Amino acid sequence: MSCGRKIGVLAAVMAAGTPFAVDATAQRPALSGRPEGLDLYLPVPPDNPLRVDVISLGRRLFFDPILSRDSSLACSSCHQPQRGFTDGRRVSVGVFGRQGTRNVPAILNRGYGRSFFWDGRITSLEVQVLQPIRAPNEMDLSVDEAVARVRSDPTYSQRFRSAFSRQANAEDLARALASYIRTIQAGASRFDRLVGGDASAMTEVERQGLALFQGKARCDRCHVGTNLTDENFHNTGVAWSAGQLHDLGRFVVSGAEQERGAFKTPTLREVERTAPYMHDGSIATLEEVIEFYDRGGNANPYLDPSLRQLRLTGQEKLALLAFLRSLSGSIQEGTQRD
Ligand code: HEC
Ligand code: HEC
Repeated sequence: MSCGRKIGVLAAVMAAGTPFAVDATAQRPALSGRPEGLDLYLPVPPDNPLRVDVISLGRRLFFDPILSRDSSLACSSCHQPQRGFTDGRRVSVGVFGRQGTRNVPAILNRGYGRSFFWDGRITSLEVQVLQPIRAPNEMDLSVDEAVARVRSDPTYSQRFRSAFSRQANAEDLARALASYIRTIQAGASRFDRLVGGDASAMTEVERQGLALFQGKARCDRCHVGTNLTDENFHNTGVAWSAGQLHDLGRFVVSGAEQERGAFKTPTLREVERTAPYMHDGSIATLEEVIEFYDRGGNANPYLDPSLRQLRLTGQEKLALLAFLRSLSGSIQEGTQRD
């Protein structure tokens, strides 16, 4: 089997990018050939260097329903590659049809992330990746049971031994999944080509949208940098309706008053295929997202001060939309061999 292989629909979009080259012996991060536009430095913890065998083990686990209680759901059931690693639903649905409360976030370039989940309650990928296994509304399996299952599977048992020189355990399961997540990278969009110096990469309307994004529409107050996120938390009022906040968001983690109803700024890469939008999936289309910002978000006592009425013209809204669509490029994941 070849790995890093482009999954089904992805083949076309990813064909433009060059595959990863991973140095199996390197102690330092050594992914090369990443999509154009991303930082060259990808932070990796010292006790989990990126290695080909660990990444491909993590990849296999990510697409395997073995990690859910009734073996019905894999990580990839909710994080579907062709949807930018989201699921197209308003909120997630776990084992036995159990509904979650939040929208599945795009897992793109999360290796560059500072904190995880919409409220940033977890600060390392190695800790994060075990949470969905345990979560009653997601996979609902104890980590002990997950480890027992992979130990009793001959292929996994052998691959854990060859990757880590010991029996499968919770830490190594986390290392493998986290390593795979780090390889999921989106870039090489028309926007990246423009930033890279190719003035013809974007149409005039898209460039006008970019100017609005960084100017009148104020989007880059929060959606900044190569990944179009400040990795910070803001109340845009999404959770506010009928006079109250329906999800306290970051406040539950920080206890800071001003973070009531604040959520992590998501990346906008591949945003065209990650609908519906926002932490609760409450906005169905990008057109409606633009209307939401045009009216200054949802007014509430904790609204971020950067938001205000924008008074965009119809033509400006179309330009902003065209710019958001220019953030689609290619997604690469995995390694070159299995
Ligand atoms: C039932 C659907 C579902 C399954 C299965 C699932 N996830 Fe998720 N995932 C979610 C939802 C929903 C969130 C956001 C939850 C929140 O913010 O509170 C999330 C968040 C994440 C994040 C954080 C992304 C970010 O930007 O903060 C990562 C990484 C992730 N999941 C990886 C995984 C891995 C690895 C697996 C398999 C072990 C997995 N997920 C299985 C629904 C799912
Ligand atoms: C004050 C900071 C801030 C500003 C300014 C801002 N955003 Fe956001 N954006 C966020 C946060 C935070 C979220 C998630 C909010 C939530 O789910 O509660 C978000 C969500 C989004 C989403 C949904 C992405 C997804 O995956 O669900 C899109 C699209 C988006 N913003 C585009 C824009 C555009 C276009 C502008 C300018 C018109 C803009 N944003 C201005 C902080 C901001």
